[in-house]
Amino acid sequence: MRDFENDGGHMMFGGVRADSIAERYGTPVYVTDENIIRENYKRIYNAFAKHMEARVHYACKANSSLAVLRILEQEGSCIDAVSIGEVMTAMRAGFDASRILYTGTSVGSAELKAVADLGVMINADSLSAIERLAKIRPDAKMSVRINPGVGAGHCDKVNTGAKDTKFGIPADTAADAYGRAVELGLEPIGIHAHIGSGGQGIEPFTDAVSVLTEITNRIKDDHDIDLEFIDMGGGFGVPYRPNEQVTDAEEIAEAVTDIILNETSVRTVAIEPGRYMVCDSTILLTRCTDVKRTEVKNYIGTDAGFNTLIRPAFYGSYHHVAIANKFNKACEGKYDVVGPICETGDFLARDRALPMPEEGDVIAIYNAGAYSFSMSSTYNSRPRCSEVLVCDGKIDVIREPETTEDLWRHQKIPERLLK
Ligand code: LLP
Repeated sequence: MRDFENDGGHMMFGGVRADSIAERYGTPVYVTDENIIRENYKRIYNAFAKHMEARVHYACKANSSLAVLRILEQEGSCIDAVSIGEVMTAMRAGFDASRILYTGTSVGSAELKAVADLGVMINADSLSAIERLAKIRPDAKMSVRINPGVGAGHCDKVNTGAKDTKFGIPADTAADAYGRAVELGLEPIGIHAHIGSGGQGIEPFTDAVSVLTEITNRIKDDHDIDLEFIDMGGGFGVPYRPNEQVTDAEEIAEAVTDIILNETSVRTVAIEPGRYMVCDSTILLTRCTDVKRTEVKNYIGTDAGFNTLIRPAFYGSYHHVAIANKFNKACEGKYDVVGPICETGDFLARDRALPMPEEGDVIAIYNAGAYSFSMSSTYNSRPRCSEVLVCDGKIDVIREPETTEDLWRHQKIPERLLK
């Protein structure tokens, strides 16, 4: 987990006092440090590129804010998109269609056509998608998502590579699927698998890539198909807890590229990191609105709940918490950090040792760059919050907070109900 500078008891983030950001922009607010995203991109790109030609497809479901996408476009990243909305958002941020790979699952023909019409390559998730794509665009270059039968992830909900998940074409029928694609006129140039998200070990990556290399060789033998790239998906873990160790991307890169280079004639590897790229670039600042002490527990009530950050409530995920304006104060007791949503499951953190809280304190939630704003909602009719970008002490608003009016924007009351 990333540590932040302490300026006389005030947490510093991107060269700015976190509590002053909260003061100036209001809370809750997501605060992203541009330099961290750039560093993360360079680190993971170099880890792979030093072994073989590498393409980083940022999985923009992690954070699809336009400013974040601009930063990664400038760095030279490509995009992993899973919906027409993500494709169009990436293009709006300046990505050329040739830098986007679309890996939708359970998608209809209308969406497949809309994506193909934009010139974006499709990574087919099923035999049906292959057949429908061939009707829409018979000569399309494409790739195929394989279910490698090897999964990993920080919890079952995000393990996408296991045999009993909905994703991809089962490994044992993959060669036939490639054969069928060629028969229909398509031009398969890639193979893809994604084991899951937040896996910490190296074996699931190497096991899945071994499955991909076997299929790559089989389709060369059986159908004379020469693939251009092997896409190993994302899933690179990030430490969320103090002193947590996760497998280094360097180690994964070395092991995976070794397998590809030794066992196939494919010379380009693609990776799809989402979390790795943005997770530690962002903190969520929320204000303590209420301190409650009971016989069984103490609560720090804040203005951010699972509408703003759902990961703790939905996955049981750990996000580190600190009081930004009491950064050097000793911990005094244990608290649950809870939000304003009217459900018992609304919490950001449980049983955390923290300094004595007071209403008005600014609470910083760490590692809020991935699957945080992008999974936020307006539940309980609370408009989504704003986002700011910091860079060497400079701050820019990259998303205005929504207003209550925004909640009603697309609703209509039938005339007869207005009487
Ligand atoms: N590629 C594909 C095809 C994916 O489905 C995903 C994530 C990724 C790449 C990126 O995985 P990453 O590098 O970020 O682990 N909402 C969950 C995570 C869901 C990830 C789904 N797919 C969370 O908050 O932990």
